[in-house]
Amino acid sequence: EAAQKGGYDTFMLKEIYEQPEAIRETLRGRVEKEKIHLEDLEKLDLEKINRVYFVACGTAWHAGIYANSLFQKWIDVPSICVAASEFRYSDPHIDDKTLCVYISQSGETADTLAALKMSKEKGAQTISIVNVLGSSISRASDVTLYTCAGPEIAVASTKAFTTQLALVTLLILKMAELRHTTVDCKAELLEGLKRMPEVVSEMLDKHELMKQYAAFLKNQEDAYFIGRQLDYVSVLEGALKLKEVSYVHADAYFAGELKHGAIALIEKDTVVIAMATQPEVAAKTISNIEETMARGANVILITTKDQPAPKFKYVIRIPDVHPLLAVIPVTILLQLFAYYAAVEKGRDVDKPRNLAKSVTVE
Ligand code: AGP
Repeated sequence: EAAQKGGYDTFMLKEIYEQPEAIRETLRGRVEKEKIHLEDLEKLDLEKINRVYFVACGTAWHAGIYANSLFQKWIDVPSICVAASEFRYSDPHIDDKTLCVYISQSGETADTLAALKMSKEKGAQTISIVNVLGSSISRASDVTLYTCAGPEIAVASTKAFTTQLALVTLLILKMAELRHTTVDCKAELLEGLKRMPEVVSEMLDKHELMKQYAAFLKNQEDAYFIGRQLDYVSVLEGALKLKEVSYVHADAYFAGELKHGAIALIEKDTVVIAMATQPEVAAKTISNIEETMARGANVILITTKDQPAPKFKYVIRIPDVHPLLAVIPVTILLQLFAYYAAVEKGRDVDKPRNLAKSVTVE
């Protein structure tokens, strides 16, 4: 096992560090200048689609929320992201004009597989984004697009997630193209994705800083992750990762929702991890975060290079990336944060209690 860990203490850390390569592999052969090669999609009749569901569990569901946000931004077809465990019981409207996109690292998650089978019975067209070759979900879908993250051993998903984000960005851009919709920032996004392995490496270099911030949780039992718009995807993922591996109770909130209840929980030294990378709402988010500071919160702010944040003591600035891609570098920081919090608390990082790598019961 030590040999498999390739010199790292844990599989989780190894897999966190494999992300530049995993993203590079996932993009390989799929992006050529402004052209996206996902030829398998041509097997589908996307022109007739009038409703789209993104369906997944856990971390993969967070990738689904991201995919759905991009889809809604660019494509004028109603779409929604639903947790697979809820999907079959939510009376989804499915017929042959419905497209269902399933996201799964293992390709074996029972709820996701059952949802896929149900949607196929009702005539939906199906795409799966899967990491494990030949898995049940990949075999049952009309089209499978593989993330090329390599085997993910640690229970906590890391490289599968960031490769899912990269691949769904390509998928939604390609779908826009096939539906003759122009996406103005397409060239910039493709360039940004190509540069992403370097950006991720830059984030990995911040490991000492994240270790230092994770130590803020030493005597804390709770942490609050806040952000708006696409930052909410990182917020959900950061909170889940922290819970899974460190057992610190973590909540994820839209920054603007805090004052509708959760701010009552903020007191002196409460740890708040705040994301403000989305230009349209960053200033508002910052003002929400300042409300938590006024109540004594210990805030770690993740933002962009040019965002003024004079009142913050602990600020991490991500490199210049297109705002729609910011979730990838932010996630890397949050993975390191969760990892070091777990190590600090002496947890079994690779095999957290009560969790299985692949959940094959509904
Ligand atoms: C992620 O860290 C979790 N272990 C879990 O939420 C996982 O993402 C979920 O069970 C879905 O698994 P899948 O991607 O293999 O379908």
